[in-house]
Formats: sequence, C-alpha cells, structure tokens
Amino acid sequence: MSKILIVDDKHKNLKLLEALLEPEGYEVITALDGLKALKIVTEEKIDLILLDVMMPVLNGFEVTRRLKALEKTKFIPIVLITALKESENRIKGIEVGCDDFLSKPVDSAELIVRVRSLLKVKAYHDHMRNYEKELESKIVERTNKIQEQKEELEKLYNDLENAYMDSIRTFTTIIEFKSSYIGNHSKRVTKLVKYIAEQVCKDEREKKYIEIAALLHDVGKVLLEDTLLDKSNKGESLSKTDKIKYEQHVILGQSIVRRVKVEEAIGLMVRHHHENWDGTGYPDKIKQEAIPLGARIIAICDAYDTFINNTLSVKESTSEEVIEFLKKGAGSCFDPQILKAFIQYIYTTKTLEQDKKEIGIKFSELRIGMILSRDLIVASGKLLLSKDQEISKGLKEKIDKHQQTDPILEDIFIYRSSYLN
Ligand SMILES: [Fe+2]
Repeated sequence: MSKILIVDDKHKNLKLLEALLEPEGYEVITALDGLKALKIVTEEKIDLILLDVMMPVLNGFEVTRRLKALEKTKFIPIVLITALKESENRIKGIEVGCDDFLSKPVDSAELIVRVRSLLKVKAYHDHMRNYEKELESKIVERTNKIQEQKEELEKLYNDLENAYMDSIRTFTTIIEFKSSYIGNHSKRVTKLVKYIAEQVCKDEREKKYIEIAALLHDVGKVLLEDTLLDKSNKGESLSKTDKIKYEQHVILGQSIVRRVKVEEAIGLMVRHHHENWDGTGYPDKIKQEAIPLGARIIAICDAYDTFINNTLSVKESTSEEVIEFLKKGAGSCFDPQILKAFIQYIYTTKTLEQDKKEIGIKFSELRIGMILSRDLIVASGKLLLSKDQEISKGLKEKIDKHQQTDPILEDIFIYRSSYLN
C-alpha cells in the first residue's frame, strides 16, 4: 500500500484530502507543519508528499528544498498545493525541485489522477534503484570473490615457489657437503649472475630461471669421483680421460635438474654453461645465440670465479690480469656484449678485490695459521673469536672442544692470503 504524507497547517484541509485519498486505498499520514513533516519522512517510508505552500515556520518551498537535497528523500515526489496562481510561485516551486502542482480548492478527480501518475513514477524509480543496488551488491560480491580467489592463488603460488626454492637450496647444501669449494663457488657465481641478468635480461621469469641455473650449474660434479673433483678444485691439469669424465658434469647436472622437475630451460642452462661463443665448447658445440642466455652469463661469471680460485695455489691475480684474461675470451669463449656488461660491473663494484680478500671455508677446513677476516659466531649466537685473530694451536684446540657443545654452523671467513700459507 502506498503511503502519502499530507502537510498543511489547516486541520480541515488535511481532513479533506485524507477523505479523498483513503477510499482510493492509500495510507495517509498527516502533519501540521514543515518541521514535523521532515521528521516523519526520516522515520517512515513515504511514497508521495502533498505539501501546502503557505505555512508558518517552514513553508512548502523550504521543505521541498531540504527534502530534494538529501540522497535518501530526493526521489519522493512532492506536489505543492497552492492557492497562489502566480507564475512566480510555480517557477520557485520548480527551482526547489517539486514534481507537480495542485491549485486550491483541490479538484478531487485531478488530485487522484496526479497522485496515481506520480506514484507510478515513484514505483518505477524504486524498482530501478533496487535493481541498481542489487547489481551493485552483486558486483561487490563478485569482485570480493575474485579478489579472494586471486589471493588464494597468489598464496598457493608463493607456497609453491617457496617449496621450489627450498628444494633448490637443499641441493646446494648437498653440493656443499660434497665440496665446500663448489658450494661457495656456486654462491659467488650466483651473486654475479643475478646482477648481470638484471642488466641484460628483460623477462622476470627468465631471470629467476637464470638465478636457479647459476646455483645448480655445477651440481653434476657431485657425481664425479672424489679424486677428479679434488684435482679440478685445485686447478690441476687433467689427463685426457679425466678431462672427458670431468666434462660429463654438465650432462649429469642437467639430468639431476630434470629429476627434480624444474623447468627444462634451467636444465638447458646447466647443460650449456661450458659452451663457447664460437662453438668450440662442450658438450654440444653450439654457438652464439643458440647458447641459452643464462648459460652465456653463467659461463663468464664461472670463468671469472674459477680464474681467481684456480690461482690459489700459484699466486694472487691482480684485477688487471683477471680483466685481461676475460677480454681475451670476447667473441671466442664469451658473448662480447655480456662480457662488456660484466667487466663494467667488476670495475664499478670492485667485487674482484672483495672476492680476493677473503674466502669462506667449512669448520673441517680450518687450519692453524689461518687468519679470520670476520668475527667467528657459534650456533648459540655467542662470539667465539673476533676478526683478525690468527688460529694458533691453542685456539684450534679450544675451537675443536667448543664445537662439540656449541658448533659453528655457518662458513668461517678467513683472509685469502692466510689460506695460501
Ligand atoms: Fe662447470
């Protein structure tokens, strides 16, 4: 049932209109002044207002203006009832937003027709507003659902990626168990590779693959015989048979990587990290861009790190020697463009000096005469020895004893020069 509010300061006028509308099946509410009318509108769901213009305190124009200014009440049709016929008043009524006019004395037939048609318009408005609201809430509901699904997918993706990276790290730990040299070498190479990949690779996913390939590039070496691995780590020259066996590490590496079901692209980078730019490398003698980008980056960083460390038993190299060695390989061993980016990196960051200065070793490799380049911290977080201490016989015994109750879990960093002694 539609609810109509009639506002008039004269009681008899209210009664008259009420008597005309109630028989038509409308619920009628009355108010004797504008303020009371405004109060009723906020409390009740009104479908139409019949409003006398001339009232004390708040006249019909002011009541209309206030109701049309509010979002909640602006769609309620308002009919101004006026004894005044002047066009000035009609214009004022339109300006404040009224929907129709009725003149006093009210004609009953005209009243019913106007009310009926305005209520139809109101019903249409209500329907459209409800539809809009329903649509809006559906959109919000769907958007929330999509957002929830997106967050769930992102979480799943992150969990998967974390699990993936965990398994890669486990691999590098296994490599470290077999040889701390290869483990540290892989970490150092990865650090360099990450930077160079950032400069020369645009694809974010490929950058991630390159980083993983760098961590795993020498994983195949864990399957080599210990004696052969030892020889290669020390940079000793290999016999022809040993060389063939050694070169197998790239193929072995690829098959290990395949078993953990990482992307095929990562396995290919591992396989080809000893290919040369001019096609004279191994295992497939592919050349230039046929060599995966990641493999070309790893080749340079690997050579750099190997060059520094293979000279351990001979002498320390100067920055210039390392750069010259690398430059000689431009266009033959190495991709010239990547090499350029790499040399620039070495010069700008002085990584070379940092790498040459210290070396990370395992506890089992710590010997008398070595000098710590960093503080020695044990598992409990306690400082066991401070930086620059030389490992004497007494200190070595003390550390060995301490290792049984509160072990050193991380790498121990010592000055490279003391490693050579
Ligand atoms: Fe290698």
